[in-house]
Amino acid sequence: MDAIRVRGGKPLRGKVRISGAKNAALPILCATLLSDGESRLRNVPKLRDIDTTAALLRFLGRDVQVDAPEVTVAAGSTVKPEAPYELVKQMRASVLVLGPLVARFGRAKVSLPGGCAIGARPIDQHLKGLQAMGCKITLERGYVIAEGPGGGGRLRGAEVMFDVPTVTGTENLMMAAALASGRTTLVNCAREPEVEELGRILNKMGAVVDGAGTDVMHIKGADRGELAPFDHAIIPDRIEAGTYMAAIAASGGDAIVEGVELDDLEAVMVKLRQAGVEVTSEGQNVRIRREGPLRPINITTAPHPGFPTDMQAQMLALMCLAKGESVITETIFENRLMHVPELQRMGASCVIRGNTAVVQGVDKLYGASVMATDLRASASLIIAGLAADEETEVRRVYHLDRGYERIEEKLIGLGADVARVKGADA
Ligand code: EPU
Repeated sequence: MDAIRVRGGKPLRGKVRISGAKNAALPILCATLLSDGESRLRNVPKLRDIDTTAALLRFLGRDVQVDAPEVTVAAGSTVKPEAPYELVKQMRASVLVLGPLVARFGRAKVSLPGGCAIGARPIDQHLKGLQAMGCKITLERGYVIAEGPGGGGRLRGAEVMFDVPTVTGTENLMMAAALASGRTTLVNCAREPEVEELGRILNKMGAVVDGAGTDVMHIKGADRGELAPFDHAIIPDRIEAGTYMAAIAASGGDAIVEGVELDDLEAVMVKLRQAGVEVTSEGQNVRIRREGPLRPINITTAPHPGFPTDMQAQMLALMCLAKGESVITETIFENRLMHVPELQRMGASCVIRGNTAVVQGVDKLYGASVMATDLRASASLIIAGLAADEETEVRRVYHLDRGYERIEEKLIGLGADVARVKGADA
C-alpha cells in the first residue's frame, strides 16, 4: 500500500480548486435507484468511495459509467436489491441504498455496517423511520431485511422524529418518503448542506420536498415509476475546502482556495479568524493568509451549522502550533481523537480527557512515520507534516484516497514538497 511523504516547512502559495462533495455525491448516486432512465451527475470527485458506490449500484443491477467528473447511472435489466457485506464494510455510506431500494422495489437486504474506527455508528434511527412508514424490519445474520407493507407494497407517509440528527438517516428517509404515499414529516433532521442538496435532487425528480436544510421537512411522495432521472452538478466539498484552508494556515502560507460555498463553511472560517488566520473572500474564492503566530481556540463539534466533526482533526493539528492552550471537544463520535497519539509522535503536546483534547501549542512539530485510522485523521497528519521540520511519512493512504481527490497533486500545485511512495505502507 502507498504512503505519502511530506517534507515540511514550505509555506503554501498559489491556488487550489475544490472538487465536488463526496458526502453529497454518495446519497445522490443512491437516489438514482428511485427512477428508471438515465441520470447524469457532474462535478463528481474521483475517489475510492465513489468507485465503491458505483460497484454497489452495479451489483444491484444498474448500469453505471464512471468517467470523472461525470457519472451516469441507468436502470439495468435486472434488480437485485441486496447490498452485501463485502461492499458495505468498505464504506458505511452503502446503507444509503436501504431507503431507495425498499421504496422502489418493496424489499431490501443490506448488510449492517458494524462499528468503525471513529465509533459504534448505529443505524437505529434509519430503521425506526422506515418502520414508521410501514416497513417490516428483520435482522438476520448481519443483514437488515426491509419489506414494504403487505409483503413489498408501497411505503406510507409518516411522522418521524429523529432522537439525534443523523445525516445519512435523514437522507435515507427522504429517499424513502419520495416514493411513499401521502405526506411524510421528518422532525429534528440533520441540516447539513449535503442533505439540502439531496432535497434539490428529489425535487428535480418530481417529489415535493419542503424544508431540506432545516430541522423540519415535509415530503410528498410520487408513485413508483413516476420519479424522473436527473442531470445535476454536485456542490463543492466544504470539508475538502476547510482542509486546504487549515493546511495553508498551518504552513504559514498565502493561497487561494477556489470554488468554495462560503455559507457552508461559516463555522470553520470563524474559528480560523479567531486563531489569527486572515480569511478573505471574493465570490467563490477564499484567500487564506497567515503571517503571525497562531492563537489558541476552543472548538466543540456539533451538527450543522455547528463546527463540523469532519474538520475537528485538521483544526486540532493546526492548534498544535498555537501559542497557548486549546480545548477541542468531539461530541458527535465517541472515538474520534485517534489522531492525537500520532500527533504526539510528531512532538505535539496534547492530553485526552474523555472526549476532549487539551492541546498546548508547541513551537515546532517534527517529522515522523505516522498512520491514521480514518480519513480526516489522515488529513490532519498531512497538515501537521506540512508544518513540521523534516520528513513525515503518512501511512495507510487508502483512507485519504476515500475522500480527497488527487491530494498530493493539489498540494504540489500549492508548492508543497509531497510525494506518493508506492508500496511503502506496512
Ligand atoms: N446515530 C445514531 N443512530 C442512528 C444514526 C446516527 O445514534 O441511527 C448517531 C451516530 O452514532 C453519531 C450521530 O448520530 O453519534 C451522528 O451520526 P450521523 O448519522 O449524522 O453520521 P453519518 O450519517 O453516518 C455522515 C457523514 C460523516 C460525518 C457525519 C457527521 C456521509 C456519507 N458521512 O455520517 O462523514 O462525519 O455525517 O457529520 O455523509 C467523513 O466524510 O469523513 C465522514 C465520516
